[in-house]
Amino acid sequence: MKILTTKDLKKYFPIRSGVFLQVTGYVKALEKVDFEISEGETIGVVGESGCGKSTLGRTLVKIYEPTSGKITYYDPSGQTHDISKTLDKNVKSTFRKDIQMIFQNPYDSLDPRMTIRDIVLEPIETHELFTKDEKKSRDEFIRELLAKVGLHPEYARRYPHEFSGGQRQRIAIARSISVSPRLLICDEPTSALDVSVQSQIINLLKEIQQETNMAFIFISHNLDVVYHMSDRIIVMYLGNIVESAPSTELFDSSAHPYTQALMSAIPSWNPQKRKLDKIKLEGEPPSPINPPSGCPFHPRCQYRLEQCDKLKPEFTEVKEGHLCACHLYTR
Ligand SMILES: Nc1ncnc2c1ncn2[C@@H]1O[C@H](COP(=O)(O)OP(=O)(O)O)[C@@H](O)[C@H]1O
Ligand SMILES: [Mg+2]
Repeated sequence: MKILTTKDLKKYFPIRSGVFLQVTGYVKALEKVDFEISEGETIGVVGESGCGKSTLGRTLVKIYEPTSGKITYYDPSGQTHDISKTLDKNVKSTFRKDIQMIFQNPYDSLDPRMTIRDIVLEPIETHELFTKDEKKSRDEFIRELLAKVGLHPEYARRYPHEFSGGQRQRIAIARSISVSPRLLICDEPTSALDVSVQSQIINLLKEIQQETNMAFIFISHNLDVVYHMSDRIIVMYLGNIVESAPSTELFDSSAHPYTQALMSAIPSWNPQKRKLDKIKLEGEPPSPINPPSGCPFHPRCQYRLEQCDKLKPEFTEVKEGHLCACHLYTR
């Protein structure tokens, strides 16, 4: 069963300048994104910094309002709700419980004045998942939850500043899974952490993934990290999804030149073995304020065709379940 879908999702951030803060342009963070995720599925979202990954995650959980397009939420009973504009009262609490997000920086995301116990229990209290006579079981619950994320039960009485980045991310994970969400969105959950603890957090998320039927959206600029977690990978470039395929299919036969460039930049992926030429990704992505005409990737693409700077390629199926937006496949 589906959980969330988007159709033509667009998010523009206005740029204001001058004394009167007039809108003088837009950062085009998301351009017509069609996306869907179902129960139990893990979708990896990759692309260079600034391509719109976080904006996608934040728009899906309604931190940001979409500029246009449609977001549909399927509640646990299968009923659909158009949540693009507003989150109706009757669906708000189910939605807020069902869909959780953890962020890149565990230093910002935990309230320094609250104990770990209160931080982790807060979503449960908000959603009134405990009844009065269950008060005692809260201690038991928190102990189990902390153990699950690899933290000592004694930590419940402490405050966030007493913990390292990796431990704080564990606390954030405990908090987000406390309400048994159907979908957990992880936005670069390890990129603010020391390299030595990154894989521990990835492994913890993998364990949770295997033990539960939770769906995951796993956002990272690192294709290698995403590959090991995901059923399907979507590749973003300048606010567009340029390729979407099952992970193994993407690994074996990526179609988009941009994806191929990302892949050939990973030394351990041994390009020769996969018959992939070493493709260099040169320069920085262009500005999303003034994106290139036609295909957004054309200025950096070594397979550029004549129509590439004029016509934006449609997102088309190159194989069943494997989609790509590139003129090499639309001829
Ligand atoms: N709140 C915001 N206000 C204005 N611009 C934003 C905001 N959030 C993101 N952006 C811009 O939108 C683009 C996409 O950003 P983001 O979604 O954070 O990319 P990513 O997560 O892939 O690095 C960037 O150009 C970024 O500067
Ligand atoms: Mg980001």
